[in-house]
Amino acid sequence: MTDSKLYDGITDLGADAAAAFDIAALDRDFYENPYPVFHALRRHAPVHRLPNGAWFLTRHADLDAAYHDPVLFSSDKTVDFKKTMGDTSLYEHHTTSLVFNDPPGHTRVRKRLAPAFTPRALRALESRVREVVDASLDEVAEMGSFDLLHDFAMKLPIELIGDMLGVPREDRHLLSPWAVAILGGLEADLAPAQRDDAALAVDNFKDYLRWLIAERQKNPLSGEDGEVLSKLVGPDAEGDTLTELELLHNCIFLLNAGHETTANTVTNGVDALLRFPDQLDRLRADPELIVSGVEELLRFESSVQLNNRKLTADAEIGGVAMNKGDYVWLCIGAANRDPAEFPDPDAIDIGRDRNKHLAFGSGIHACAGMSLGRMEIRIALNGFVQRFGQIEPSGTALHHPRARFRGFVDYPVTASV
Ligand code: HEM
Repeated sequence: MTDSKLYDGITDLGADAAAAFDIAALDRDFYENPYPVFHALRRHAPVHRLPNGAWFLTRHADLDAAYHDPVLFSSDKTVDFKKTMGDTSLYEHHTTSLVFNDPPGHTRVRKRLAPAFTPRALRALESRVREVVDASLDEVAEMGSFDLLHDFAMKLPIELIGDMLGVPREDRHLLSPWAVAILGGLEADLAPAQRDDAALAVDNFKDYLRWLIAERQKNPLSGEDGEVLSKLVGPDAEGDTLTELELLHNCIFLLNAGHETTANTVTNGVDALLRFPDQLDRLRADPELIVSGVEELLRFESSVQLNNRKLTADAEIGGVAMNKGDYVWLCIGAANRDPAEFPDPDAIDIGRDRNKHLAFGSGIHACAGMSLGRMEIRIALNGFVQRFGQIEPSGTALHHPRARFRGFVDYPVTASV
């Protein structure tokens, strides 16, 4: 291997590029393809200090260790989000979500969510997933030319989370714009206008959920409808009750966490298969490969690229000393292309058999919805590539200019059987 060429055509940008990397100053090339930058960082500056003093980690082993030490690597963001979010409802939302809290607050909420994601609960949801996917496939088949992300991939998570929270069908169009605005509020270079849009979305979402909960209390739903919401309202078996804000913000978080992540994985996955047509043929010939195939696509184009932690004590990683209070970026996108963990990391092998990717994080904060997400992606992705024998991009698809979440702004395609 020479210095200029790394893996499958990815060029080593070199030590200077790694040293100059700043997560708060990214350009369009980075958003389209961040992997050359990630390789340079992992190779030349795996424990990289950003201009604002935070650390940026890119090795799989370092991320894995951080995820499994939640005492040293805290998820509490009350101090850090204050700087970018100020005293807004956006701040209130993110600092009340379980993902940005440490035990015991985190443990309480996580325990309340667990019944929604048991294998039994998921089996009950599977027929609904198939129903939504089949209906969406019929719709886009009729259209012929359509937007893969908005006309197909986004439909499923919105319907499912809408079902879980018991949101009336006619209101579901409200959910996606709120989720996108609120998650956009997590970007490192948050502009005031973006922050205000995100805070307004939180206010609107909260008002909506207050109304929904009041409705539910007046007219309780029977059966599976609104199951998660009804389980979260009121005390649990030990008599512990979530506060109103915990309830509202964690419902909002559920939608946000499971919506774009899943839709982007389906779209990123189709895009990746179109770039590796031999793998697309392989999947079409052997649909059972969807199980390992989805893991590979989650690894290859992880829809969540970054997580954050804060050190609660002095620490050392890879011989670099860090201080208590330092902020740490965990770069999933880089770890999932680490050649020390994944042979041939920049190629897709849908049959890859040892695939310890970190697309869902790991440790106590590992994605609570990963089984649901996996099921949705398998059924949607396989449904799409098996239904349409011809899939052609029909325009330029640009990536969303956000570092934390990887996905397209839109993805025009033409598809036929
Ligand atoms: C491809 C789809 C998905 C991806 C890539 C993904 C990714 C992640 C990641 C990386 C984390 C860890 C965050 C951290 O450690 O800081 C996480 C947490 C979480 N995810 Fe997902 N997620 C997906 C789908 C879902 C779905 C469908 C749901 C539920 C409807 C969901 C609910 C959650 C929750 C509740 C947490 C917080 C867990 C905790 O803090 O204990 N996710 N997700």
